Amino acid sequence: MRRARQDVDKVEAEPRDLLHAFVRLGERAHARVTRLDVSAVAGSPGVAAVMTARELPFENDIGPVLPGDKVFADGLVEYWGQSLFAVAADTLEHAREAAFRATVEYEDLPAILTIEEALAHGSFVLPTQVLRRGAPAAAIARAPHRLSGRLAVGGQEHFYLEGQVAMAVPREGGTMLVHSSTQAPSEVQHLVAKVLGLPASAVTVEVRRMGGAFGGKETQATPVACVAALLAWRTGRPVKLRLDRDDDMIFTGKRHDFAAEWEVGFDADGCIRGLDLVLASRCGFSPDLSGAINDRAMLHADNCYYLEDVSITSHRCKTNTVSNTAFRGFGGPQGMMAIEWVVDAIARELRQDPLQVRRRNFYGRGRRDLTPYEMKVEDFVIPELVDELERSSQYQERRRDIARFNAASPWQKRGIALTPVKFGISFTALQMNQAGALVHVYTDGSIHLNHGGTEMGQGLFIKVAQVVADELGVGVERVQITATTTDQVPNTSPTAASSGSDLNGKAAQAAARTIRKRLAACAAARLGGKPEEVTFAGGKASVGRRSIDFAELAALAHGERVSLSATGYYRTPRLHFDRKRHRGRPFYYFACGAAVSEVQIDTLTGEYKVRRVDLLHDCGSSLNPAIDLGQVEGGFVQGMGWLTSEELWWDDAGRLGTHAPSTYKIPACGDVPEDFRVTLLHAPNRQPSIHRSKAVGEPPLMLGISVFHALADAVAAVGDHRLSPRLDAPATPERVLLAVEELRARLAEPVLREVAE
Ligand code: MTE
Ligand code: HPA
Ligand code: MOS
Repeated sequence: MRRARQDVDKVEAEPRDLLHAFVRLGERAHARVTRLDVSAVAGSPGVAAVMTARELPFENDIGPVLPGDKVFADGLVEYWGQSLFAVAADTLEHAREAAFRATVEYEDLPAILTIEEALAHGSFVLPTQVLRRGAPAAAIARAPHRLSGRLAVGGQEHFYLEGQVAMAVPREGGTMLVHSSTQAPSEVQHLVAKVLGLPASAVTVEVRRMGGAFGGKETQATPVACVAALLAWRTGRPVKLRLDRDDDMIFTGKRHDFAAEWEVGFDADGCIRGLDLVLASRCGFSPDLSGAINDRAMLHADNCYYLEDVSITSHRCKTNTVSNTAFRGFGGPQGMMAIEWVVDAIARELRQDPLQVRRRNFYGRGRRDLTPYEMKVEDFVIPELVDELERSSQYQERRRDIARFNAASPWQKRGIALTPVKFGISFTALQMNQAGALVHVYTDGSIHLNHGGTEMGQGLFIKVAQVVADELGVGVERVQITATTTDQVPNTSPTAASSGSDLNGKAAQAAARTIRKRLAACAAARLGGKPEEVTFAGGKASVGRRSIDFAELAALAHGERVSLSATGYYRTPRLHFDRKRHRGRPFYYFACGAAVSEVQIDTLTGEYKVRRVDLLHDCGSSLNPAIDLGQVEGGFVQGMGWLTSEELWWDDAGRLGTHAPSTYKIPACGDVPEDFRVTLLHAPNRQPSIHRSKAVGEPPLMLGISVFHALADAVAAVGDHRLSPRLDAPATPERVLLAVEELRARLAEPVLREVAE
């Protein structure tokens, strides 16, 4: 049989009468729009339509969970970059030119820009949450040692290589087809239907693939799709909207930046006795997904450590900045950064190796296996995984070498850190943990596969195709992977929370299994034997020595009037979570990993190099080791970028200064560690997940935390590890230099005092 292809040979052409849209962005952080005059826009060359909030046919609000996000600002601008209106013209140049002919006048209102300002004003998008177990204050007071501190962790721009884009095509009977670069086709379908006042069944959303998403297209694709659909509805012509890079960076949400404050009580071994952690995040002007993101931060503030008496407070700050959103890890990385920093601080205070202190706090058996939200940690592979990585990375020898190097090197300092990751797999919102799939077998034995997941470069499509091929005992080349579309599989969850292959793999397997059972009955009738005895492998169905070719069997089944099409459905078992009480089992299982990073800093300039990185990551029984390796490498580098070079900067007026690659530095090939050793741990998932694999999309990002801690270790070497460095993320060369100088100043303090006395 001829090879079916996943790749398109030919990119589908744009429709002939296509219009191009441009969105004009507001240029105030918080202001009343006193005048918005678009008459000159409408009269500009090539313009087919202009739309402001006033021209909307139905709804303006497109908040994904709670109201707050609007297609167009309606008299009030709440962040610098909010959409004011959109214009459709025959070319993008005409649309852009026209948009800048509008007259916009504002009356400024006071703006709250930072977490600190929001806390001071009590400005929140959602109520503060507290997760408490035991009596943390008393435990801290009783503990032999106490420490407190703070840590700021910056946000992150997704920098998907393909920006946000949508093309809406009006269809007969007032229906609409929307091609969208979204991780959440069903959500775009519902919100496009809502703004157009149509039933969901009149809107079809199709996603062939995205050129990267990283969470930035879970909700942020919606406004782009809605604008294209509204202009298409207005003009009756297809409309495409593709944001240019600068506008994309200004207009769409990013990873939340966090401020953490903590007080910890511990014993002489560094064992945590009580922890009081306060997290505050910058959510921006609307709730978007901030509730679930901050919940996940709270649920990952334990990482791998048993916290018996603990209080985790989470403030969800409302600011006049872009509404922050999902980004690989979904709040988990920020929660994990906080606890890792606390553990490091304890180790420095006790002048012990941070790895020892980490180990002493790991989850264990008996009572020590309950998370603060009282889920039992059942598959905790971390102790063995960390032992293995410590050995394979020669952590101890290298720590000694580094100490020798630092003793002999006054200006260049090296640091090393091993940090673990335990990441919960499942959506914390119960209803999102379900998926559907549709499989057809044609009479020539070829297979059509459709499921609710979207492809963004993470390899989901090939993984799910492998599952179907495996179930039917044929080569994967027989499976035609098709675009995700809401008219084939309805009511789907976004492809997010790393659960794309877990959910859609199981749903597709269920569909394929239904067809296989029907085919087995036909094969048994033809070959003799019982249906249960029929095996499917090597492109054949067999009973003992007798077999029939898969294509022949498909034709035979059709001839006997047996349906060769089936849907499949899956919902994750065992989940329950009380969001108000913060108790339950929000995760089906945990994915784990650990990383060792070694760095060298130049204490005169703050510049640094990542000398070597060793990763060991648990993928369960990997569905596709090549893809998983790519996810682990890519996730690590993206996490490293978040904590080192990627810095978002707003000016005092609330305008994003870093809105292009010229000022926002993502890791490039040259930033990949010189010596990069990545190993996958292939231990079957204890839960019966799809082929006992483990989700791999997000967890490796948090392996990048080791680079931050290695940098802190190198800074601490300046003071011979007598003082804890003060370092915030991202640890840019500038921040590393400031941390070195601040530490040197503290080292000099007692000496100065002695001199003065
Ligand atoms: N890998 C690539 N190449 N591109 C992406 O956009 N997104 C990440 C991760 N890996 C992403 C990626 C995020 S945020 C998630 S949630 C998962 O992939 C989603 O896909 P999965 O559930 O199929 O792993
Ligand atoms: N992870 C990722 N995306 C989500 C989640 C989650 O837990 N909940 C809602 N969207
Ligand atoms: Mo990923 S942040 O869950 O899209």
